[in-house]
Amino acid sequence: MRPDKKILKIEAKLDKLRIKHKDSDNHQVAENVFDDATLKTLYYLSNRGYIKAFGGSISTGKEANVFDAIGKNDKDVAIKIYRISSSNFKAVQEYILGDHRFENVKHDRKNIVLTLAKKEFQNLKRVRDAGVRVPQPFVIERNVLIMEFIGQNSIPSPQLRNVKMELEDTKHVFEQIVEYMRIMYCDADMVHSDLSEYNILIEEGATPVIIDIGQGVLRSHPMSEQFLKRDVSNIARFFKKRGVNATDEQIMTTITQG
Ligand SMILES: Nc1ncnc2c1ncn2[C@@H]1O[C@H](COP(=O)(O)OP(=O)(O)OP(=O)(O)O)[C@@H](O)[C@H]1O
Ligand SMILES: [Mg+2]
Repeated sequence: MRPDKKILKIEAKLDKLRIKHKDSDNHQVAENVFDDATLKTLYYLSNRGYIKAFGGSISTGKEANVFDAIGKNDKDVAIKIYRISSSNFKAVQEYILGDHRFENVKHDRKNIVLTLAKKEFQNLKRVRDAGVRVPQPFVIERNVLIMEFIGQNSIPSPQLRNVKMELEDTKHVFEQIVEYMRIMYCDADMVHSDLSEYNILIEEGATPVIIDIGQGVLRSHPMSEQFLKRDVSNIARFFKKRGVNATDEQIMTTITQG
């Protein structure tokens, strides 16, 4: 099919879903995210009431696109769509191989990406049940994850790196994040593995929310200690820059022995 014809077909399907895709001018984006199987999945989820109307694009990341939408009970939801076609699935693989929950996954691009999506859903549930503030996951279907929207009036809460706070609030956020890392490690038996000022949102009242946990691994994963050290040094580096007295050693001790 000619590219412009394909786009028209996608646009027509999006219309049916009442999806107003802000990036629809950007054909490359539309084509990469909304392949036929993804459209079918969105259609299925909208028939089941999980999506009432699609909003705009919040983010185009390395592995996924995030959109806001209206979900069940007319509440805002965030829809994370893992791209099958343009993902760096080789880089993602190391977080899946070695996790005994996903031992029998086939190692092709499609299955690795679908597993990553499922893994993010399971990880969100797991750490949330243990008491970490993350978006509540609602449903996973193929490469589409629907979760609680973090923000207000369709405006997402900002990433930690973009929030200016008083030193006192900064210290409070730091302590809360270290406590979440401790709960993840000690109670949920997990390491986030991509924790940084990019993957923490700040809600009103200087409340941190941890996101983007698809690459999180169990402590039994052979690389988990290395991933934990990297998370710890990202957090220490960021908060030192913001004037908090933080060292890798002190954070590591709190997490592993606290
Ligand atoms: N539940 C949510 N509520 C509101 N905004 C969200 C939510 N989840 C993600 N976002 C927004 O989308 C951005 C990307 O999300 P996320 O980090 O999960 O995806 P990603 O594709 O892994 O991105 P990247 O490759 O940039 O790390 C976040 O930084 C945040 O701004
Ligand atoms: Mg991210």
